[in-house]
Amino acid sequence: MKKEGDTVIQGMGRLVAHITAGLVVLWLCTAAVEAEYMKYKYPKQPLKVRIKDLMKRMTLEEKIGQMTQIERKVASADIMKKYFIGSVVSGGGSVPAPKASAEAWINMVNEFQKGALSTRLGIPMIYGIDAVHGQNNVYNATIFPHNVGLGVTRKDPELVKRIGAATALEVRATGISYAFAPCIAVCRDPRWGRCYESYSEDHEIVQSMTEIIPGLQGDVPLNYPKNLPFVGPRTKVAGCAKHFVGDGGTTNGINENNTVIDWNGLLNIHMPAYLDSIKKGVATVMVSYSSWNGEKMHANYDLITGYLKKTLKFKGFVISDMWGIDRITTPPRANYTYSVQAGIHAGIDMVMVPDEFVEFIDDLTLLVKKNVIPMSRINDAVRRILRVKFIMGLFENPMTDLSLANHLGSQEHRELAREAVRKSLVLLKNGKDGNEPLLPLPTTSEKILVAGSHADDIGNQCGGWTIEWEGLSGNITAGTTILTAIKNSVDPATEVVYNENPDTEFLKANNFSYAIVAVGELPYAETSGDSNFLTIAEPGYSTIANVCAYVKCVVVVISGRPVFIEPYVEKIDALVAAWLPGTEGQGIADVLFGEYGFTGKLARTWFRTVDQLPMNVGDSHYDPLFPFGYGLTTSPRVMKASH
Ligand code: BGC
Ligand code: BGC
Repeated sequence: MKKEGDTVIQGMGRLVAHITAGLVVLWLCTAAVEAEYMKYKYPKQPLKVRIKDLMKRMTLEEKIGQMTQIERKVASADIMKKYFIGSVVSGGGSVPAPKASAEAWINMVNEFQKGALSTRLGIPMIYGIDAVHGQNNVYNATIFPHNVGLGVTRKDPELVKRIGAATALEVRATGISYAFAPCIAVCRDPRWGRCYESYSEDHEIVQSMTEIIPGLQGDVPLNYPKNLPFVGPRTKVAGCAKHFVGDGGTTNGINENNTVIDWNGLLNIHMPAYLDSIKKGVATVMVSYSSWNGEKMHANYDLITGYLKKTLKFKGFVISDMWGIDRITTPPRANYTYSVQAGIHAGIDMVMVPDEFVEFIDDLTLLVKKNVIPMSRINDAVRRILRVKFIMGLFENPMTDLSLANHLGSQEHRELAREAVRKSLVLLKNGKDGNEPLLPLPTTSEKILVAGSHADDIGNQCGGWTIEWEGLSGNITAGTTILTAIKNSVDPATEVVYNENPDTEFLKANNFSYAIVAVGELPYAETSGDSNFLTIAEPGYSTIANVCAYVKCVVVVISGRPVFIEPYVEKIDALVAAWLPGTEGQGIADVLFGEYGFTGKLARTWFRTVDQLPMNVGDSHYDPLFPFGYGLTTSPRVMKASH
């Protein structure tokens, strides 16, 4: 018994050993097969193979998750995981905490990313933000001039390319890899509240400014496949050409309204910069809230799928604007299921939902299950989203760290912004009669006056999309105000007196050599910026009238567009359009005091009265105060040392 038992036990032991060995071999084989099948995980695999491999593993739920972009306010690691969310957005002013540090941003982004990576397939999410003039939601970031000012530097697209590269670094400094920029709107009416987001009324200037795209995303390598998005790794970000298409052409400049123009007009004015952007490998295109000849762009199959995807062969993904599909109906969200159907059918690949994502996911799922939206449409969307994520190396580098944090608001970037400010200024008048120019100003005087609502206010000189969505007056972030810049530029012996809105007595009582008056618009964004009057903020006009009546004056206009100024021009000795220069006010003083010359040329027509509007260069009723292309020059007064 004992012996037999032993034998049996020994035999069983051998059998177990064999089975174990067999299992090990089987496990190894499975692992090998598995490894071979998980092709999407291997960067050496061709892009197409990776996309195809991953696509075939994905469930409908996982695919729809990729198409869903949610606001950071409603995001968490658990939500990312549970709904397979593909993307997160910071809306304007949506920050992890007031004055959040780069580290706080990075921790937040990594937290969401961990959730995304913990899903079955571990597809990384992409985080998007409006870095439209620098990483502008972030405290202490370098704020560059808004596009309206950059358009003035038109002969220098290389400058905007460098700005793009600096912006990419500052966006990456906060752990983010996707910027909703550039806005390539061609603003045809300054009454539009987003006119400052546009480089010019002239599509050729807008086209040349698309050089910001290789700045943000990196240069498309030689022999790279045509029309394929290109985004370099780590120090570059995915860009977004917006808002497709015709956003700058709405009737009377009303935001999100109707652009009435024939096909040739659309093609010749509003479309060209999209062709440049696609050529330069732009990763994404955002759809416009506006309509074209009465049809909402968010529901426009012919333009999104037909033209952008099929004719232009754009291969990146199309993203909706925030609540953009909701606004397909009037009133918005009147029939959300219909909105989802119309938007996805039109060709939108990722929907900036941004908050009620469960409803979006449920509606889209049901529409697919009922065959209202074909699976092929979902597959097209997901393929495009994955394509961008693979190309930019998100699968290889999903997590972020502090290694680029020192670029946020760096001195180097501030110098670049200052250069951009210098080049974006337009000198509109210099001296009461042309023979006696007031500019450049002497740095040595006894006593000078600085006045105006915009002379000592970082928020005012940055405009909208700065810290808050609509911007904010006050010293809201680090930077140099015009007043500080003037103090930095004059000789220490020069007394600089600041009085925001001096009265007659004060002006008479002092013996000022000259005055610098900085006035303009208060910050706004989108619809709140729509204006039929285009006036500057009170008491700007009376500040001009008072000061210029008693003191030789330079008026610096800080505004997102040309403003009503005609009756005041004759009272003013020198007039400078500074647009929305951003944090580096020193660039203004650099040019006022002649360290550099004025070079800027208007990229917009300066109207006389608002009833002329719209009025663009080439129009038959063209009778501007200052024409498109206008701009006086000065020579640098101080010779710079040449070493
Ligand atoms: C704006 C876009 C912006 C998006 C995300 C929208 O309201 O139209 O330009 O990218 O919000 O903040
Ligand atoms: C958001 C912006 C967005 C806007 C759309 C705001 O609440 O902060 O990002 O552009 O809504 O109208």
